[in-house]
Amino acid sequence: MTDRYCVFGNPIAHSKSPFIHTAFARETQQRLDYTTWLAPVGGFAEAWKAFTAEGGRGANVTVPFKGDAFALCDTLSKRAQRAEAVNTLILGGNGKVYGDTTDGVGLVRDLHYHGVPLTGKRILLLGAGGAVRGVIEPLLAEKPRELVIANRTLAKAERLAHDFSDLGTLSAAGFNDVTGAFDVVINGTSASLAGELPPLPAGIFSTNAWAYDMMYAAEPTVFSAWAAAQGAQAIDGLGMLVEQAAESFFLWRNVRPDTASVRKKLRKRL
Ligand code: ATR
Repeated sequence: MTDRYCVFGNPIAHSKSPFIHTAFARETQQRLDYTTWLAPVGGFAEAWKAFTAEGGRGANVTVPFKGDAFALCDTLSKRAQRAEAVNTLILGGNGKVYGDTTDGVGLVRDLHYHGVPLTGKRILLLGAGGAVRGVIEPLLAEKPRELVIANRTLAKAERLAHDFSDLGTLSAAGFNDVTGAFDVVINGTSASLAGELPPLPAGIFSTNAWAYDMMYAAEPTVFSAWAAAQGAQAIDGLGMLVEQAAESFFLWRNVRPDTASVRKKLRKRL
């Protein structure tokens, strides 16, 4: 029987994950079936149960279920425990559920792919929601000189800075209090979705700075366009999506797909 995987979300119809994983499977000559699964809000555990009853072996989890997936797992990776979120589920042979999160490693791999230097650099991370929590640990593992988390609601940035303070030099700020120039500025707010820009002071980019928006679209996001106008090299989050998928694929299949061709195909489809 073909191994089954899916991505749970709500909404989920426009997910790119089936395209990405089907391309990975073809490239690595793995036989598997990967589909979307629309779970009702409040009904995630039942949806997972129904999927596994139909032979599901593992799944990705996206908005709004990453916390529900976290709560459902029997065992969690260290990085999922830190992130308090799960985007990858694996059903063990014993029926136990293992949860991991590949979003953070996906971001860092994409930054490496683009040649963005992180070690010894000043990094500014915008936002303090689930998306940002998931990337702090792998970013700190790159040993930046300093990581500043800036958020509209300062208390949320302060909580994150506190929760990860054992892992590196990090601090919290409101957008207006951000000072100095940064080598890398990463937008993890959902402001781009509303076509808005976090209200940042001028001069936050150092010479040769990079700007990364965790969102992506066919056209440059508001943040990317603004950053490029400030002289920064702007990258969107399409590669992060592909890299987090590749890490999930590796967890399920123990085979690491090459991401370059899928990146190109996906960009063309936007
Ligand atoms: P996610 O799981 O995608 O991180 P979230 O937990 O709702 O979603 O977090 C959204 C983040 O985007 C938060 O940091 C939010 O700021 P607040 O904590 O102050 O709410 C930020 N955000 C959303 N809209 C924004 C906007 N228009 N300008 C600036 N920040 C915004």
